Amino acid sequence: MQFFSIVLTLLALAHPLVAALQCAQNTFNNLTLNGGAILAISVAPITNISANLPPTNNFYATNVTGLDVCEVTIQYTHPGQNDTINVVVWLPLGGWNGRFMAIGGGGLATGGGKATLNPPAALGYATAFTDGGHVLDTRSAATWALVSPGNVNWALLQDFASVALDDLATLGKAATEAFYGSSPRYSYWNGCSTGGRQGHMLAQRYPTQFDGILAGAPAFNWASFIVSEYWPQLVMNLLDVYPRQCEFDAITKAATAACDALDGVTDGIVAVPGLCNFDPHTVVGQTFNCSETGMRMQISSEAATVALAAWKGPSTVDGKFEWFGLNPDAPLSGLVNTTCSKGGNCSGVPFAIPVDWIKLFVLKDPTFNLLNLSHREYDTVFRQSNNQFGSIIGTNDPDLTDFRDAGGKMLTWHGLADQLIPPNGTYNYYQRVLNNDPNTVDYYRFYPAPGVGHCSGGSGWFPGNIFQSLVDWVEKDIAPDTVDAKSPPNSKGVVRHVSLCPYPQQLKYTGGDINQASSFICQH
Ligand SMILES: *[C@@H]1O[C@H](CO)[C@@H](O)[C@H](O)[C@H]1NC(C)=O
Ligand SMILES: *[C@@H]1O[C@H](CO)[C@@H](O)[C@H](O)[C@H]1NC(C)=O
Ligand SMILES: *[C@@H]1O[C@H](CO)[C@@H](O)[C@H](O)[C@H]1NC(C)=O
Ligand SMILES: *[C@@H]1O[C@H](CO)[C@@H](O)[C@H](O)[C@H]1NC(C)=O
Ligand SMILES: *[C@@H]1O[C@H](CO)[C@@H](O)[C@H](O)[C@H]1NC(C)=O
Ligand SMILES: *[C@@H]1O[C@H](CO)[C@@H](O)[C@H](O)[C@H]1NC(C)=O
Ligand SMILES: *[C@@H]1O[C@H](CO)[C@@H](O)[C@H](O)[C@H]1NC(C)=O
Ligand SMILES: *[C@@H]1O[C@H](CO)[C@@H](O)[C@H](O)[C@H]1NC(C)=O
Ligand SMILES: *[C@@H]1O[C@H](CO)[C@@H](O)[C@H](O)[C@H]1NC(C)=O
Repeated sequence: MQFFSIVLTLLALAHPLVAALQCAQNTFNNLTLNGGAILAISVAPITNISANLPPTNNFYATNVTGLDVCEVTIQYTHPGQNDTINVVVWLPLGGWNGRFMAIGGGGLATGGGKATLNPPAALGYATAFTDGGHVLDTRSAATWALVSPGNVNWALLQDFASVALDDLATLGKAATEAFYGSSPRYSYWNGCSTGGRQGHMLAQRYPTQFDGILAGAPAFNWASFIVSEYWPQLVMNLLDVYPRQCEFDAITKAATAACDALDGVTDGIVAVPGLCNFDPHTVVGQTFNCSETGMRMQISSEAATVALAAWKGPSTVDGKFEWFGLNPDAPLSGLVNTTCSKGGNCSGVPFAIPVDWIKLFVLKDPTFNLLNLSHREYDTVFRQSNNQFGSIIGTNDPDLTDFRDAGGKMLTWHGLADQLIPPNGTYNYYQRVLNNDPNTVDYYRFYPAPGVGHCSGGSGWFPGNIFQSLVDWVEKDIAPDTVDAKSPPNSKGVVRHVSLCPYPQQLKYTGGDINQASSFICQH
């Protein structure tokens, strides 16, 4: 009997069809979790998967065809906490590369769903995500934030913030070992936005789980930056003016034009936004064609005030710094959205995540009307968000000693035209890690990506191969001095290439073809 099962196992490793035979419940019967109780495990082969993905989790757009995996769904709870969490693992039926990759979530969703498992599985990774015990809804926490009126669901918030990520690593690696008969040689985290925050949380709190962590456009500093995402809407509410999107687009265009050349190249990308001191009040009265109305309009002083507020970020009634703002070439449509009726009656369209965060978690009152928030009350919300939730989900501890000592490597990058998460929060965190340990570059590097939007998009250089840079660092000790990146094709079909520089180095144009990486260097 035992001999037979050994033969089967050997055959399974050699032949994908036989591996499918092991894709059965009893292969995974022995999975356990410290602090958790397994409720159910379901196992099924899924064959001939195809999927077309846009740039996702720091990968370029990927088309997957003919993928065969063993799908394992593990449902468990933390006894006494009344949570029910699902971990989904995909184990390639052929061509396992010996590695495990856990995939992060976005917005208020702990994981990105099965679609996000396609690129890693197609590369031969055993891969997994967790739902963290609540629906995979990126924009709304309405179904899970409160256990009863006025009471936060602390267990689910902790699962989302940290605990379920540790479990995902443990269960994903254990399922991989149960299936292939050996534990993964290397384990990786890969995520962007909330997935970038989660990667940093793992480095801070579970420093031995992953050999390599890729954590793009991190939503860390959560307790501060999420509240800051509401700031431009507060400013519009206080002014009681809601300019049209075409007016903000005209301001973004003027700012980009004014600051474009400061980096030495006039190419529509503001590569050094820190040098840009453009004051939008200088273009008040300038006319532009509004695509929404088909009419000529003038830039108003109110729109200039709102744009400047979005770039400066929030400060208190007394003028004290609260958080960073967006860079001037970032689209304002994410955080400064408005909508207008046919009759020209305009109102604000706040980004959904800060609305839910402030109403459900900070104020614990789903019926609160944020239109009524005063600046003073906003400041209180800002302080309370940090006071009540900083230690749970702030994810901004700069002490990475344990991650370093465990031999981990971490990469982050941030699009400088990010329209949702101010890149300066990432500079700020990285600088604090650097202050704590001057040798940070030995295990953690940060690559600003000029002209790139939130996790992708924009006309700048997107580092869609950066995961491979992490693998080379972890497995071959090849430290990424730079990271290759490319732009999407412009209107003439031209793709621009660059090698992104690790902070505190900066990309500098040295002359020649602006589309070639060799025309740029990294300098201090
Ligand atoms: C599960 O554990 C039992 C007891 O330790 C062991 O006999 C059995 O072989 C294990 N099964 C698998 C599939 O690993
Ligand atoms: C696999 O899927 C492709 C397209 O989705 C289809 O054309 C092909 O026939 C399928 N192959 C098998 C063996 O089912
Ligand atoms: C994926 O397939 C779509 C539809 O066929 C195609 O338009 C796109 O260019 C492909 N993308 C890649 C990265 O191959
Ligand atoms: C457990 O959670 C469910 C909803 O998921 C809820 O209906 C039930 O009342 C909770 N039980 C306790 C004891 O809190
Ligand atoms: C944002 O970061 C850049 C790059 O480090 C810096 O030049 C700039 O002064 C920062 N802006 C603020 C408001 O801190
Ligand atoms: C606005 O549209 C008019 C008529 O289509 C055109 O002549 C003008 O150049 C446009 N102005 C700008 C700033 O695009
Ligand atoms: C802005 O608000 C409009 C109206 O609600 C919505 O259709 C659009 O998707 C929003 N834009 C963004 C970028 O969120
Ligand atoms: C304008 O729109 C707002 C929000 O949609 C609405 O409350 C208000 O009554 C409208 N005002 C007018 C004059 O139509
Ligand atoms: C918001 O303010 C308006 C007018 O100031 C008031 O009528 C309304 O009751 C307030 N709503 C809430 C939910 O406090």
